[in-house]
Amino acid sequence: MARMAEPLLELRKVSAGYGEGIVLDHVSVALPEGGSLALLGRNGVGKTTLILTVMGYLKLATGAVFFRGRDISRLPPHRRARLGLGWVPQERDIFPSLTVEENLTVAARRGRWDLAAVYGLFPRLKERRGNMGNQLSGGEQQMLTIARTLMTNPAVLLLDEPLEGLAPIIVEELTAAIRKMADDEGIALVLVEQHAEVALGLTDQAVVIERGLIAHRAGSRELLADTATLDRHIGLDLGGQRDH
Ligand SMILES: Nc1ncnc2c1ncn2[C@@H]1O[C@H](COP(=O)(O)OP(=O)(O)O)[C@@H](O)[C@H]1O
Ligand SMILES: [Mg+2]
Repeated sequence: MARMAEPLLELRKVSAGYGEGIVLDHVSVALPEGGSLALLGRNGVGKTTLILTVMGYLKLATGAVFFRGRDISRLPPHRRARLGLGWVPQERDIFPSLTVEENLTVAARRGRWDLAAVYGLFPRLKERRGNMGNQLSGGEQQMLTIARTLMTNPAVLLLDEPLEGLAPIIVEELTAAIRKMADDEGIALVLVEQHAEVALGLTDQAVVIERGLIAHRAGSRELLADTATLDRHIGLDLGGQRDH
């Protein structure tokens, strides 16, 4: 008899925060292998906190985090990364005095994503491969941050506001690259985004967080059409009139 497919990543009743302060309040959410989940919500509701908790930077007050059925709640961040959790932090994180190519190769772990594959996804990085990290534009640094995480060949990418503050042309390039990873390559995604329309266009499932709680769950396509719910929970930001 076929077993129920095990989620790739699962949070069960997770409460966590900073010191004595609890931010996440009994959050339960699951991501199937190859699935994609948008984490939506206003500023300060706990989206980054959730990512940090999954990656192992914050202590759990209740609950547990599972990866392919294994309780990883007590593993330190580097062990979680080795298991296949690929974190792209909100602050771009590259080595400024290494070249683009060196930034990529220092992160490399065996697998489908090697230099050629990553350059195929981000042709701009190939053009810039000899440039130092600190010679890149903000958008190129963001691409390099994502590409570097891909070089670790993760099973899931956790992207924390990857499009924040970027010019529209770069947003388009990055969106296309993220779509390719998710649709063609089957990498699972957790995508934190302020711009609901973009995030919902890139994912299958969505949760809306409000003050550390999951306030709403829906299919991404269904939520995209549900302007009343979007407006109620996050203020209607469909991302059309981004102002930078
Ligand atoms: N290092 C920290 N120490 C204490 N509180 C923090 C820290 N980082 C974030 N917080 C608080 O946790 C809450 C959730 O923050 P965060 O997860 O960063 O929100 P989001 O990513 O949704 O904008 C906020 O109230 C914020 O002030
Ligand atoms: Mg955040």
